Amino acid sequence: MNKDKVICPCRKLTKGDILKAVEQGASSYKEVKKATKAGSACGKCKKQIKKVTKKALKK
Ligand code: FES
Repeated sequence: MNKDKVICPCRKLTKGDILKAVEQGASSYKEVKKATKAGSACGKCKKQIKKVTKKALKK
């Protein structure tokens, strides 16, 4: 998946932004949300963020 892929259009967050949050210590959707504000508008991206976060944590 492309790092520039937009995961959360509401907050203009890309996959790269989420990966960065995980790199900086976020270890759950909740923490990524806190760090990036992802999913804090419509919430539609929640599933996607969870998926990307999980994947990033495996690495
Ligand atoms: S797409 Fe992420 S909050 Fe709307």
